[in-house]
Amino acid sequence: MTCHKFSHFYKFLSIYILWLIVQLQLQVMKSYPLRLLCHCLHFLGLNRKMASEDIAKLAESLAKTKVGGGQLSFKGQSLKLNTAEDAEEVIKQIEEFDGLEALRLEGNTVGVEAAKVIAKALEKKSELKRCHWSDMFTGRLRSEIPPALISLGDALIAAGAQLVELDLSDNAFGPDGVRGFEALLKSPACYTLQELKLNNCGMGIGGGKILATALKECHRKSSAQGRPLALKIFVAGRNRLENDGATALAEAFGIIGTLEEVHMPQNGINHPGITALAQAFAINPLLKVINLNDNTFTEKGAVAMAETLKALRQIEVINFGDCLVRSKGAVAIADAVKEGLHKLKELNLSFCEIKRDAALTVVEAIEDKTELEKLDLNGNCLGEEVCEQLHEILEGFNMASVLGSLSDDEGDEDDDEEEEEEDDEEEEEEEQQLKERGAEEQESLTPKKIIDSQASTPVPSPPVDVATFLAFPSPEKLLRLGPKCSVLIAQQTDTSDVEKVVATLLRISSVFKDEAPVKTAVHETTDALMKKAFGSATFNSDAFITNLLVHMGLLKSEEKIKTVPSLYGILMTLNHMVQQDYFPKSLAPVLSAFVTK
Ligand SMILES: *[C@@H]1O[C@H](CO)[C@@H](O)[C@H](O)[C@H]1NC(C)=O
Repeated sequence: MTCHKFSHFYKFLSIYILWLIVQLQLQVMKSYPLRLLCHCLHFLGLNRKMASEDIAKLAESLAKTKVGGGQLSFKGQSLKLNTAEDAEEVIKQIEEFDGLEALRLEGNTVGVEAAKVIAKALEKKSELKRCHWSDMFTGRLRSEIPPALISLGDALIAAGAQLVELDLSDNAFGPDGVRGFEALLKSPACYTLQELKLNNCGMGIGGGKILATALKECHRKSSAQGRPLALKIFVAGRNRLENDGATALAEAFGIIGTLEEVHMPQNGINHPGITALAQAFAINPLLKVINLNDNTFTEKGAVAMAETLKALRQIEVINFGDCLVRSKGAVAIADAVKEGLHKLKELNLSFCEIKRDAALTVVEAIEDKTELEKLDLNGNCLGEEVCEQLHEILEGFNMASVLGSLSDDEGDEDDDEEEEEEDDEEEEEEEQQLKERGAEEQESLTPKKIIDSQASTPVPSPPVDVATFLAFPSPEKLLRLGPKCSVLIAQQTDTSDVEKVVATLLRISSVFKDEAPVKTAVHETTDALMKKAFGSATFNSDAFITNLLVHMGLLKSEEKIKTVPSLYGILMTLNHMVQQDYFPKSLAPVLSAFVTK
């Protein structure tokens, strides 16, 4: 007996020592001490039953998704590369990287000379598909950027690369800067382009026009070769494109026809430009995301856009916040929402000068949008009473949680009394109907209803709600949340907060069991949560993985963090996650580095 205890003591001591070595290595090498970590994990496997087997499984899944390598990153290293000499190390790593598919250069500054020699190294990288080249000219003169871009672009063309993603955001190159990658855009290297990101580049009207022409030519030439450009994601926020730039781009979008996401916030576009875009969007039937935040629609633009929305079936996100759609525009958009848009997840009509009746129409239009997660009507002209009314209506729909804050409401204006009188009768009738509908739904006490009522009044404790499950997770509680558990948990998790996502993910996965109902519930719930998180443009997936690894005890953190008692659930869950479409391929290498030999 004592002998047994003694050996236990030794086992723990050796685990402790191993960890010390690993931590030391982490600090000394500043890179992944893979082998050691792996040994350590194997060793811990004695204690954490099955951990090593599960890790092997996860590693296998990662390998299968064929995303293990491929990316070379200098992201955020603040390298100041002026001369050819400065770039030596970067070049060496590029040259030595077989099968380079993605190159991250963001967060450095690259001058003309350095760009030339880096370009030389890229001439042999025919497999390069993703150029993450945002913010790579910090502090450079504007005149330095075009020649640097030209060298890099020429190298990609020479290499015969077939790009999928080109991100040049946050490079303040201005209108002339577009000339720097015009040739690249028109070349066969971009026939395969799916994502073009040019956020915050100061392109202006002139740059927008050059860009539009280049895209059209790329489409024409690639079509002639039987493989037309099929751009999916276009990002060009904060570029002062204005009406003329937007109109030129709209022409290109209309020809391309394959867009899924268009982000053009903050571009000083007014109704003529918005109308041109609306017409182009109507012939892009796959559009999912339209973000035109902070442009000026007014009624005309909004009505045109609403017409387009009626023709689109895949829309998930509409961001017209700060776009001055006004009441009339809001009603037109509400009509479009009511008629279709069954996949709608987010509708932002905040700060749009929308008044009470129009806001009510909007809220009513979302009644059967089962996918809706966010409705933002903040900053309009509603007044307290109407704000409350909106809440009530949504509660009646069982959708109270979708409504964002209304704290910046501008208040009711008194100038529409006449209008109100006219509509009074009609409205009363409608309200009555709404209340009845609300009452009916109250009876069918779904879990969400319970949560909502619990939040406001301390009613007798319901069977199980999301908060209870998350506080004290158990497989039974997850099952008792019912078939909507995945939607509920995703809805109630603030996915912009990486910490919260990690905490929720760990809690859900902690109840994992290899039995049908529990396994399915865990998978569905994590899928809904992570889809929402990864699907959000603001979600920092690198921070997410780091945070997760820390909580799993695989990565050291400066703060004291409690690691999970068992890795089994999370490993099984990760194994499922990495095989799903929503899991960003770019994360696989990091994860893989921590779990493979
Ligand atoms: C909606 O748009 C407003 C105004 O631009 C913005 O402040 C807000 O964050 C957006 N809401 C959501 C949910 O994205």
